Amino acid sequence: MNEIILQIDGRKVQAKEGMTVLQAAQSIGINIPTLCHHEKLESYGACRICIVEAETGGRTRLIAACVYPVEENMAVRTRSEKVDKTRKVLLEELLAHAPDSVPLQALAQEYGADKDRFEKEPSFCVLCGLCVRYCAEVKKINAIGFSDRGAKREISFIPEIASGNCWDCKECFPLCPTSYLQAAYVLIEALMR
Ligand code: FES
Repeated sequence: MNEIILQIDGRKVQAKEGMTVLQAAQSIGINIPTLCHHEKLESYGACRICIVEAETGGRTRLIAACVYPVEENMAVRTRSEKVDKTRKVLLEELLAHAPDSVPLQALAQEYGADKDRFEKEPSFCVLCGLCVRYCAEVKKINAIGFSDRGAKREISFIPEIASGNCWDCKECFPLCPTSYLQAAYVLIEALMR
C-alpha cells in the first residue's frame, strides 16, 4: 500500500493509502470528535461532528474526517474558526433531539453550543445509526432498524428478532450517545410481557 504524506494541524503524518483523515489524525494522537463513527463498523458519515478543514490543490473545504481518505500533500486543520462554528451549530441541532445526552453536553461545553437554540424535538435519538449498524455488521442479527423516512425517521427493535436475541446481548446499549436506545428497549420489553 502506498504511503501518503500529509499535514494535520501543522504536523507531518505518514499515512497509508486508503486511510481516512480521522485514522491518520488518531495515528499521531490528534483527537477529532465523533458520534456516528465506530472502528468496528463501516464508515457512515451521518453526524458530521468530525468535520475538519482540508486544503488540497489550493482549495480549502470542509470534509467529514471519518469518511474522507487521506491525500498526498493535504493540509488538515482540525480546529479553526470555521470548523468550531460548524460543530457548534451541528451540536445545537443534535441537542434539540437529545438535550440530556452526556456526550453531547460535554461537546456543547467545549464548543460553546446553546442547547436551547433550536426548538426541542424530544425523539431522544440523533440517528447516528450505531445500534442499527452494530447489530447488522458485527452481530449479523438485524434486530434493530430504521423505520420511516425524512423527519419521521426513527429506530425501532424488530420484536420477532429482538425477543430471541436481545435479552442476552445488549451490546448496542453502551454505543448509544443518548439514552434513547435503552428507553426503546425497555418499552419493547414491557410490551412483550
Ligand atoms: Fe464522522 Fe459522524 S463521526 S460523520
